[in-house]
This record gives sequence, C-alpha cells and structure tokens, in this order.
Amino acid sequence: MTTEPDLLVRSLDSPAVWPASAVSAPGGDVSVAGVSLAELAERHGTPVYVLDETEVRARARAWRRALPDADVVYAAKAFLCRAVVDWVAEEGLGLDVCSAGELELAATRGFPPERIVLHGNAKSPRDLRTGLRLGVGRIVIDSDCEIARIAAQVPPTAPPQKVLVRVLPGIEAGAHPKVRTGTEGQKFGLSLAGGDAEDAVLRVLGQPRLSLAGLHCHLGSQIASTEPYARAVRTMVAFLARLRDRHGVTLPELDLGGGFAAAYLPGDTAPQPDAYGRRITAELARACAEFGYPAPRLTVEPGRAVAAPAGVALYRVLAVKRTGERVFVAVDGGMSDNPRPALYGARYTVRMVGRATAAPMRTATVVGRHCEAGDVLAQDVELPQDVRPGDILAVPASGAYQVSMASGYNMTGRPPVVAVADGRSRLLLRRETFEDQRGRDVGL
Ligand code: LLP
Repeated sequence: MTTEPDLLVRSLDSPAVWPASAVSAPGGDVSVAGVSLAELAERHGTPVYVLDETEVRARARAWRRALPDADVVYAAKAFLCRAVVDWVAEEGLGLDVCSAGELELAATRGFPPERIVLHGNAKSPRDLRTGLRLGVGRIVIDSDCEIARIAAQVPPTAPPQKVLVRVLPGIEAGAHPKVRTGTEGQKFGLSLAGGDAEDAVLRVLGQPRLSLAGLHCHLGSQIASTEPYARAVRTMVAFLARLRDRHGVTLPELDLGGGFAAAYLPGDTAPQPDAYGRRITAELARACAEFGYPAPRLTVEPGRAVAAPAGVALYRVLAVKRTGERVFVAVDGGMSDNPRPALYGARYTVRMVGRATAAPMRTATVVGRHCEAGDVLAQDVELPQDVRPGDILAVPASGAYQVSMASGYNMTGRPPVVAVADGRSRLLLRRETFEDQRGRDVGL
C-alpha cells in the first residue's frame, strides 16, 4: 500500500472547517463520523450533502454552555428537516422560524411551541395564523402595521401573545452588505435613531392582547468578532433604560439575534461560543450596572455556527478544461444547491476524496453545471493536477444556507441530505426527482 501525503490533517489545522470527526482514510478517502465519504457518494449519487449529527449536537451544547442563563434558539433558516428539529429539541434549544412552513415542520415533531420565536419582516396571514394557533412563545414585531393585526388575531380566551420589538441599533457588522441588518437603509427592524422603535414599543404597550416581553436585534451574519455584540448589548440596554425612565416599563428580555461566524477557509477567524458568551455576559453586567437596569434574560439565535461546520457537500467531476490561464473543474452541482458564492462572493475550500494520487497540486476553479458564468462553487482552490471526470470533490463547511437555499434552477433536482453518526449513515432528505418536478406541473 502506498503512503500518501495527509492533506486533510493540514486542513484540520484550521479550526472547524471540517467536522471534528473527519479523518483521512485509505485510498485518498475521508471519513466523517466513521463513514467513508466516497462510499456515501457511491451509494446516494452526487451531489449529496452529509451532515454530522454529533457535530450539530456538540455545537448546540457548546452554545448552551457558553450562555447558561440565556435561551439559545437555533435559526431554522440555516437548515431544517425533521431530524434537526429533534436534535435541537433534545439539546434544549429553541427554534427561530420565519414561515408557516418552518413552523409546521417543527410542529410535526411536537417541538415545544413556547420555545419558538416567529420572525419575518413581512409575515403572511398564514404565518401569523399558524404561529398563533400553535402558540409560539414570541413573535418579533418588525413593522408598525403588524402590531394591530397580530393583536386582533389573539383569541380573547388566550393569554396575551408575548412579542419582542425588533430594533435597528445602527451597528454595522456582517461579512457582506447583503447580510448586514443592523444599520439603516435595509428592510429589517425599527430604527432606534429615528424614533420608530420607541413608537412601536408604545403602540404594543397600548394593545392589551399583546404582552411586550422585550427587545430584539439581529446585526447580520458571519460576524467574526465579538465586538459588535458588545456594542449591541450597550446600545440595547441604554434603550431599555430609556424606555423605563420615560415610560415606566422595565422589559425583562433581550434577544441579540444570531450572526456568529463559522470558518469556511483554513485560517478563517470564527470565535468559539464561549468567546462570544464571555464578551456578551461581561458587557451586559457592565451596561446594567451603569444604567441601574435589572439584567434582562438573554436570547441568542445562532444558525450558521451550529450547522455549517457539520456539513460536507460531495460532487462528482464532469469535465475539466483549461481556458486561457484558468483550469476549470466542472461538477454535477452548483448554484442550485449552493448559491452562496454567486450571492455573497463566499469562498470555500475543496478536497478530492476517494482516489489516492501523487500528482502535484495546481490552482483550479470549481464551477457548477448551470447555465451561468457566475455559477462558481470555489474559486482558486488547490486540486491535484490529474483531477479528472469521475473524481469526487468534497466541500466542507456546507451545513448552513446551502440546502435550505437550494433552488429548482435548470431542473437538476435538489440534493439529498444524509446524516452520519457513530459509523452509520441514514437518509434524511431524499433527492428531488423528475417525478417530484413533473408532479407540480399540473396545467397545460
Ligand atoms: N436571527 C435572525 C433574525 C436572522 O435573520 C438570522 C439570519 C439568524 C438569527 C441566524 O443568523 P446566523 O447565526 O445563521 O448567521 N443566507 C446568508 C445568511 C442570511 C442570514 C439571514 N438571517 C448566507 O448564506 O450567508
């Protein structure tokens, strides 16, 4: 048997790009949770997404440990299926949902509704009806016009619906303009500086069918520093104190949203939950002491930081070509299963799995199979020079905002998701077939 350079060990030097259970295996393979990635690609076909259950659970637990007095609410939009609903419930987290669909899926598993936070800048009548019917714990108010609408739908026999007001704290954070939500000029939240947040608070207080539990803010996504959270805590506690001083209300809850970074490339900064937790807790104590405000109960809503590092996407190479100076390696997935590079210029690392080679590495760009020049999965990555059609490529850090954002573009069919744990795999989501697509096409 030939010995080969252990490339994976090099990747694993950077924290959390791969699931902790990933190890290199004979024949150029990689196994995750004791399951061979090459075998999974064979068995399920490609593209296929692999999700390490233990990694998801460990990350969920790490958040609870980091903020033991807070509520940790998993952001379902990162990735949700029934198994994940169960994992989140069993690990003691809540669930952040933003549609009736996400809500109904959670309900199919009996997820405790009081642990659910319902979000949305434009909640549909069905979203609100479903949320109120199932008895969600919190509804986050994102605009003035929904206050009376929600209040009117709370059944007179039910207790007042707990709500939070989403505040725009005027803090710039997040990896890309399209995922920055803490500043003016984008669609979410009610402006603190402009007075809209205070107006909304007063309106909610005037609605007897609503109970104002506290305030919410969400700064953005892929925030790789603890600093913006410290600023958010200060800004929000100052606002809570001002509401108390002006209007005589002491609100007991503060939800700081999500946005905690995950590592995508070796060397990426992604603070661990306890680093965020320490900073937030320290700043909360400081701000509450300064403003003489009783410490509110905190909520955080991590999505990416729980799911992204647990996922690996597997593709098969369909074509390799050189165009000018560039080498393009085209695979059987692309922007329909991972729109993040096209949308946010997101970068990924890629590794060939399932074939040992001594060929030197060269720089290549991994592209998808869709009919757009922007369908690039991973720009300028190092791959063996002899990479060829039939080879399998693995893309780590693929557990969040990929399958959940997958589309029907070019009718290629959304990929399956396979869970791995303790040396075993099981199918969570099956591949979308032509029959699924044909079934929706009901008219001529
Ligand atoms: N809470 C609220 C209110 C949110 O809007 C979000 C994400 C989260 C929590 C969770 O954020 P996380 O911890 O996952 O960063 N599609 C983009 C990310 C969009 C995030 C939208 N809201 C991406 O792929 O980078």
